[in-house]
Amino acid sequence: MINFELNKAVSEKEILAYGEKVSKINKMINEKTGAGNDFLGWVDWPVDYDKEELKRLLVDAKYVRDNFEVLVVCGIGGSYLGARCALEALKGIKSNDKLEVIFMGQTFSPNYTKQVLDYLENKKFAINVISKSGTTTETSISFRLVKALLEEKVGKSQAKNAIFAVTDKEKGALKTLCNIEGYHTYVLPGNIGGRYSVLTPVGLFPLAAAGIDVEAMLTGAKEARKELDNDDLKTNICYRYAVSRDYMLRHGKNVEMFVTYEPQMSQLSEWLKQLFGESEGKEKKGLLPGSVTFSTDLHSLGQFIQDGTPVLFETILNIKTPELDVAIPHTDDDLDGLNYLEGKKLSYVNQMAFLGTKKAHEEEGGVPCNVIEIDKLDAKTLGYLFYFFMRACAMSAYLLEINPFNQPGVEVYKKNMFHLLGKKGY
Ligand code: PA5
Repeated sequence: MINFELNKAVSEKEILAYGEKVSKINKMINEKTGAGNDFLGWVDWPVDYDKEELKRLLVDAKYVRDNFEVLVVCGIGGSYLGARCALEALKGIKSNDKLEVIFMGQTFSPNYTKQVLDYLENKKFAINVISKSGTTTETSISFRLVKALLEEKVGKSQAKNAIFAVTDKEKGALKTLCNIEGYHTYVLPGNIGGRYSVLTPVGLFPLAAAGIDVEAMLTGAKEARKELDNDDLKTNICYRYAVSRDYMLRHGKNVEMFVTYEPQMSQLSEWLKQLFGESEGKEKKGLLPGSVTFSTDLHSLGQFIQDGTPVLFETILNIKTPELDVAIPHTDDDLDGLNYLEGKKLSYVNQMAFLGTKKAHEEEGGVPCNVIEIDKLDAKTLGYLFYFFMRACAMSAYLLEINPFNQPGVEVYKKNMFHLLGKKGY
């Protein structure tokens, strides 16, 4: 479903030299041994997911789609980025869908929060609150605010029917609230961490409400699971990619720059930054994930990438055929000098920008470029891509001898913030 072109700075021999290590780690992933093994639920999720729960989720999502103008999704990190990136990748940035999806709870920004609350005053809206722990401060504050607005608008008993929660099966403040209030609730399984949860109700509820074919997404992930669970480094593109990342890091490239030529894929880069950054950035190890959207950023960071400190390599996500296209018109005077492109599609210009930039970065800039190529982006391919990256991330982190599934560093800021806010026990 996707093609992977390995960067030219690493040879086939160097990739194959990882054979033994990859074989061992692949076994560890499949058999769920190794560090953080109680968080490997995502590996078999595309076949193991709760079919009955999905049916209920699809009915409820359709109810939201047919009865509300806006769905407010409250969540942060892994409880936010997957849905946001899939929504933009598949629907575009200026989507005119009948259900508007607004994200809240990914920030403490008073400006953003107040603007959203004001906007919702005159809208018929439902809420989808997502938190595995049920105690994340950004999410909880937003949910408290938006729930109060909803209850004020429609009354507490009506509000209940418009609140849909995704949380742990048993634990956490949100779960307690769901039990007491009787909200519609879906489970984020205990053995799947936030940044590996996009194919669970965390991503599926808001995406289904937005009219996306989430069953196709799961089918794509299922295909990926079948194709990528083996240790053949000659053919398994997921592990070829993971090994190339490890090789780059060990050869002085400390930054992986995710590159897209499609602005509606920019949020996918944000999801990738979280997936790799939070999984690998531990014990003073790991690649720093960055992202750029070209050609826009060729007019900013492009200079650094071409000529600056040689710390990075690129992983380019190239979609060959866009959903929509525009042809360049003729003008009689040709004052802007563009008639040489008359009749050409913007997709053609974009692809030429991609090829020209890649050549410049590789040949003159000395920047190694991996390319992940997709013919056409749809729900099934995106499901495949999600699984591909999660599995590549687990392999990469294990190659660094790191537990991919915890995030001990994230707790430090929280402790300080809670102390400053006067939370009990801090
Ligand atoms: O990947 C992760 O585990 C984190 O990014 C979490 O998803 C994020 O902190 C939100 O946590 P929660 O779902 O518990 O609110």
